[in-house]
Amino acid sequence: MRGLAGRRTRRALAAAGVVLLLAASACTGGDDDPEAARVEVFTWWAEGGEKAGMDALVSRFTADCAGQQFTDAAVAGGAGINAKQVLTARLAQNDPPDTFQAHAGAELTDYIDAGRVEDLTGEYDEWGLRDALPQGLIDDLTVDGKIYSIPANVHRANVVWSNPQVLSEAGIHAEPKTITAFLGDLEKLRKAGIEAPLALGRDWTQLMLLEAVLITKLGAERFAGLFTGATSWNSSAVSAGIRDFDKLVKYSNADRDSMDWPDAERLLIDGRAGYQLMGDWEAADLTAKGFPAYDWFTFPGNGDAFQWLADSFVLATGAPNPDGTKCWLSTVASAEGQRAFNAAKGSIPARTDTPTDGFSAYQLAAVEDWKAATPVPSCAHGSACSQAWQNAVNTALSAYSTTHHSVVALQKALAAAATQFVKQE
Ligand code: BGC
Repeated sequence: MRGLAGRRTRRALAAAGVVLLLAASACTGGDDDPEAARVEVFTWWAEGGEKAGMDALVSRFTADCAGQQFTDAAVAGGAGINAKQVLTARLAQNDPPDTFQAHAGAELTDYIDAGRVEDLTGEYDEWGLRDALPQGLIDDLTVDGKIYSIPANVHRANVVWSNPQVLSEAGIHAEPKTITAFLGDLEKLRKAGIEAPLALGRDWTQLMLLEAVLITKLGAERFAGLFTGATSWNSSAVSAGIRDFDKLVKYSNADRDSMDWPDAERLLIDGRAGYQLMGDWEAADLTAKGFPAYDWFTFPGNGDAFQWLADSFVLATGAPNPDGTKCWLSTVASAEGQRAFNAAKGSIPARTDTPTDGFSAYQLAAVEDWKAATPVPSCAHGSACSQAWQNAVNTALSAYSTTHHSVVALQKALAAAATQFVKQE
């Protein structure tokens, strides 16, 4: 019922908007039916490089889809930590936005299994997407032979960003190749007066750090097996990884649990930290925030593992404006839409035929890396695990970081989550 109320509120706002639009239509040519032509797009891209990416996509949409209007339903919070809760509540109340952001892989499968998204297989054929997108990505979007979303990009999670001036002042001039060397550099920074040299944020950002360490300890294949049931969470290799993770966390800011990723990033920009492990949305965000002098390297010991995730857009079941939404999706799917969006967002295009003009040096390097890399999925960003599993793991990390600080208790909680959520194929 609250869904209906929500719709009514939107209608009332739309009606009020009609008056304004009618007043404006003398100059702009107006819009015959503004309510029907709105496409409500639900994401968590609300500021910095994320908003810049969204704005670029919206410009293309406005050019491509005459008569349609974009309505921004973004809910701020990195990795969708708040947005996914709001979305879940709206879907449960049968009040879907027209389209929403969903990660390719297990997270998207949640929505498909719950019947929350429409089949877009026909659009794939109509828009020639089977040839333009990598088969591996199409496989991650497909359930029982049907394809349910349009990928906008591919992001990389396992990247360490650095403030070169801070490192140089501490006498660090090379990237560490092992976790031991990384710990050594963190110690050097601390001795040079940087109290918390590794910028870190709340639960899900800690999960990203832990995942990167586990990729080093287990290798790409065994790491991926943690989320299929093929690799045990109780092994001594996982214990060793959690111990290294614990050592790394001890070099981080004590107020990490109250920080989202841009707050931790601010420590790096301001020279209060030397490093931050974060996905490559950070490249665009650092630039958007006036700090283009960053440097980066793949997390020590990850080799050619490219920990990937992909943002995709769906047609929600019961979307109020399916035609307008399909036009939004066709913009997301287009090579020009992907170029404009990714140039600003920091990711690489999902389409392999997208021009790369306007891309940063980091992005051009990522495009090349992606061609030869070993793809590894991410739990923090939904390619490896379901939302329920993600929540359980985030809860375990939060308990470790804020309360018990015990590596043994953390491993137990992670193993228990795997037992509960691994899918029995
Ligand atoms: C999304 C990115 C976003 C990042 C931080 C990830 O889950 O896929 O698009 O930039 O979260 O909010």
